[in-house]
Amino acid sequence: MKNDFNALKAHIETTIVGQKTLIERLLTGVLANGHILLEGLPGLAKTSAVQQLASGMAMPFQRIQFTPDLIPGDITGSDIFVPQDGHFQFVAGPIFNEIILADEINRAPPKVQSALLEAMQERQVTVGGVTRPLPDIFMVIATQNSIEQEGTYPLPEAQLDRFMMKTLIDYPSADEELAILRRAQQADSHAHNRAAITAAQVSSAREAVNKVYIDEMLERYIVTLVGATRDPSPWDEALTPLLARGASPRATLALAQTSRARAYLKGRDFVEPGDIIELAHDVLNHRIALSFTARAEGVNCRQLIERITDVVPIP
Ligand SMILES: Nc1ncnc2c1ncn2[C@@H]1O[C@H](COP(=O)(O)OP(=O)(O)O)[C@@H](O)[C@H]1O
Ligand SMILES: [Mg+2]
Repeated sequence: MKNDFNALKAHIETTIVGQKTLIERLLTGVLANGHILLEGLPGLAKTSAVQQLASGMAMPFQRIQFTPDLIPGDITGSDIFVPQDGHFQFVAGPIFNEIILADEINRAPPKVQSALLEAMQERQVTVGGVTRPLPDIFMVIATQNSIEQEGTYPLPEAQLDRFMMKTLIDYPSADEELAILRRAQQADSHAHNRAAITAAQVSSAREAVNKVYIDEMLERYIVTLVGATRDPSPWDEALTPLLARGASPRATLALAQTSRARAYLKGRDFVEPGDIIELAHDVLNHRIALSFTARAEGVNCRQLIERITDVVPIP
């Protein structure tokens, strides 16, 4: 199956070394029509990867740097009084773009975060009683640093659900780091690269993703995996005391859609169990809550999801 996303992947790889998961998840998010949260330590190319992705897509892009002094109107826009005409006029905020980089989202206070999260959920913005739709491709990629910093506001757990995936970014390998160093020395050689994909191409790829086949057995597998985050006892009694809260049906929808997108990226027109297992972590890790017991025992979300995918039989 031919797809235009290989060109976009190559475009990202002209500046980003390694970080295969990060790049694959970005493309999966674009194809699955979902928002992504990237989490990792500073300096792991979160911001640069999103900027490079956006530069490869011929559509309006806006980076919004989240800071403690931001107000909701700085995101959505606001009604400004025009003295000459004696009435108010709406000045659109940066959210009215196709691709949004919400950089360091946990540095802004909750009011600002919820303005963004509402727009993400509803794909429209209401200011002064007037509702305006957001553009077609509209996608938010947010970043946050994983170290607990002073003056940050952790995203509310209930709102994390609006991100289709939360992807954890890891350190590069030593070889990759050497390549990063060499590439930095020959910087700017790629500065004038052209966009690889248009909005129309993204829309038609998204339609193709919707048609990727998921067998009924795999649909059941997804429902069972997500169900196991709520009640793992049929599979492993020992997991029950570790979970405080499981994932919602949004997770089920997200796991199916991202698996379709991954299959499409790999050039398949059907989903395999491997797609589902590969994406389970990114789709589930921000949607489950660990119990006190789990935290006391030092069990983290990654280990818990791994145990769930281990104990639930693959069809
Ligand atoms: N895998 C990588 N490939 C290319 N450049 C990288 C990579 N990792 C880090 N860098 C470089 O390190 C710097 C920090 O990246 P940045 O995107 O600002 O990180 P973050 O947003 O995660 O804090 C940039 O100059 C970036 O080009
Ligand atoms: Mg950054």
